[in-house]
Amino acid sequence: MSDHAAAGTAELGVLGLAVMGANLARNAARKGFEVALFNRNHERTDKLMAEHGHEGKFVATKSVADFVAALAKPRAIIIMVKAGKPVDDMIAELSEHLDAEDIIIDGGNSLFTDTSRRFKECQAKNIRFIGMGISGGEEGALEGPSMMPGGERSAYDHIAPMVTKMAVTVEGTPCCTYIGTEGAGHYVKMVHNGIEYADMQLITEAYDMMKTLYGLDAAAMAEIFTEWKAGDLDSYLIEITAAVLRKTDDTGKPLVDAIVDEAEQKGTGRWTAQSALDLGVPVTAITEAVYARALSGRRGMRGEAEKKYPHPAVAIRKPEKAEIDAIRDALYASKIVAYAQGFEQMTVAAQQFGWELHLGEISTIWRGGCIIRARFLDRIKEAYDRDPKLSNLLLDDYFRDAVVKAEAAWRQVIVRAVQNGVAVPAFSSALAYYDGLRRARGPANLLQGLRDYFGAHTYRRLDKDGSFHTRWSQDGSEIEA
Ligand code: 6PG
Repeated sequence: MSDHAAAGTAELGVLGLAVMGANLARNAARKGFEVALFNRNHERTDKLMAEHGHEGKFVATKSVADFVAALAKPRAIIIMVKAGKPVDDMIAELSEHLDAEDIIIDGGNSLFTDTSRRFKECQAKNIRFIGMGISGGEEGALEGPSMMPGGERSAYDHIAPMVTKMAVTVEGTPCCTYIGTEGAGHYVKMVHNGIEYADMQLITEAYDMMKTLYGLDAAAMAEIFTEWKAGDLDSYLIEITAAVLRKTDDTGKPLVDAIVDEAEQKGTGRWTAQSALDLGVPVTAITEAVYARALSGRRGMRGEAEKKYPHPAVAIRKPEKAEIDAIRDALYASKIVAYAQGFEQMTVAAQQFGWELHLGEISTIWRGGCIIRARFLDRIKEAYDRDPKLSNLLLDDYFRDAVVKAEAAWRQVIVRAVQNGVAVPAFSSALAYYDGLRRARGPANLLQGLRDYFGAHTYRRLDKDGSFHTRWSQDGSEIEA
């Protein structure tokens, strides 16, 4: 790091001008901030200036040194490069040019452990680091995303006037708040994406049931999703599901029917499941969604298997309205479980990593801008308003009532899917979780007995304190361990 006397006037630097970076830069400029731009390939910068230079005050630069010199101190730089090594390389290069107290913000989908490491590495160099989850895709980046900044608090306070103006606002509240130290912002964004996976998987399973059990075509399903959007399921993902189903291609047929049934993934859903396993939190709906994508990728294997295992005969018939309503209610109940699991994961992560996550505020900033934005998030916020220490959303009265109301439909829908060979892993794992959770006494007593039998792992008793071991293969007596 060098002590650079030269400083410019730009309030924000954006480094990396692929679509997300370019749109964030335009967003900041449109809100009245002077924005310095740098991209290694200058064509991107030139294109941005040519097409959108009139939208605000930009300083286009052609070297990292000029970019840094264009910024007012303390400098605030958002890097929007591919997650992984490119972020480390960029931080290393930038560090050569920055001064103490300057701020680097990583706005990509970085793994939270990388963010925590970078936070410490930057701290050692006197650079303030923010790992900021940004959700909303290309359009959100431009029009107002949901932002989840974590890291150095003083750095957040410095950038807050900018980022809260860039974020979308819902009922007067910006969808951006300080999340917590180190990698907390990226952790919360990761869980957001995990929930996004579960939400999409549940929608996909509802689609599969309507298509496979009732023979509905894409246009009919588009109508149904449009109706669902008017109710409790009101959300961006339900809205775009209707739009995707409604779209026809050049042949006039539904585009969705021509799309290859293999889902790709960049990894954030998988990271959520991996972290949940490490923390011992059952996030079954998210994890099943990750597995479902993996199974979708085995297209050749699925083709071979279909030849060996013919589909059970399904008597496809026109659905009763009540049957479609049942799928809707089952989707809502499963969605509640998916969110309950994701929020519990954040509770446990906060305890494990020493973060102070405010789950009510997190649900507030997910109400707009992000991919999982939904009316439903108001209900979550209200639940945390009622009890900020709520350990599981299913213990809140609103969600209890909603799930109890949907319960019969939820079971019926899954039974019909299972009987007719339609895989509904997210629906059914959500129900299994619910059934496991709502029993004060489950079957793990037997499991403990087995563990003690073969490994002397001991067990506890309901009627006495302490740990015990039975001499199973000797005299059968019990000893206190
Ligand atoms: C968002 C999205 C965004 C991205 C996902 C896609 O919040 O804006 O989540 O981050 O579209 O990473 O993830 P997959 O490629 O893994 O589906």
